[in-house]
Amino acid sequence: MFTLETERLILRDWKRSEWRDAHSYAQDEEVSKFMIWGPNSEKETKEFVHNAVDHAAMRPRRSFELAMFHKELNKIIGGCGMQIVGAEAATGMIGYVLHREFWGQGMTSEASRRILTFGFEVLKLHRIYATCDTENIGSARVLEKCGMRKEAHFVEDMFIKGRWRDTFLFAILESEWRH
Ligand SMILES: CC(C)(COP(=O)(O)OP(=O)(O)OC[C@H]1O[C@@H](n2cnc3c(N)ncnc32)[C@H](O)[C@@H]1OP(=O)(O)O)[C@@H](O)C(=O)NCCC(=O)NCCS
Repeated sequence: MFTLETERLILRDWKRSEWRDAHSYAQDEEVSKFMIWGPNSEKETKEFVHNAVDHAAMRPRRSFELAMFHKELNKIIGGCGMQIVGAEAATGMIGYVLHREFWGQGMTSEASRRILTFGFEVLKLHRIYATCDTENIGSARVLEKCGMRKEAHFVEDMFIKGRWRDTFLFAILESEWRH
């Protein structure tokens, strides 16, 4: 099983049986407020976890959709991951979602930094990016804390939950990561 470790977390592949863990936060309206998906039905969360498991088995592996497992509490508290995109397979796109109970403890920044290290040091990626709703202050802050540059502000590019939203794009190059 694919595993990345941080001080407080283990980031690892999902198991099909763990859809209920994902559902504990994916069904939350507040958690999915800025997301294209959600709040999820049980069927939608099961599909997400099953897709994550199916994609993890593909070779070459392009999808790293991982559960955020809290070591001390011995439970899954969120999900994070990276998709490898582009013809060169040299670009990563990261994303994350955390159960509301654990917001504001630096968990997502800790997980994201680990994924950036994996992307640059192991996968030898050239660039890693992420997007977030311009109103999603917590998410933009996570990306900033990880050393990513605000590279773009797209105006009303996403239609989410009944209205057009602006999006920030944050990115970091391997050369910037090294310095
Ligand atoms: C976005 C999210 C992943 C952040 O996770 P987290 O573990 O709480 O993030 P961290 O604790 O690592 O960092 C959050 C930072 O944002 C800040 N922050 C959060 N909400 C804020 C707000 N409304 N105003 C100002 N700062 C805010 C925190 O203070 C912290 O910064 P600091 O360490 O400088 O104090 C979490 O809120 C979440 O799951 N949201 C719902 C799903 C989502 O939006 N995912 C991202 C889609 S792009």
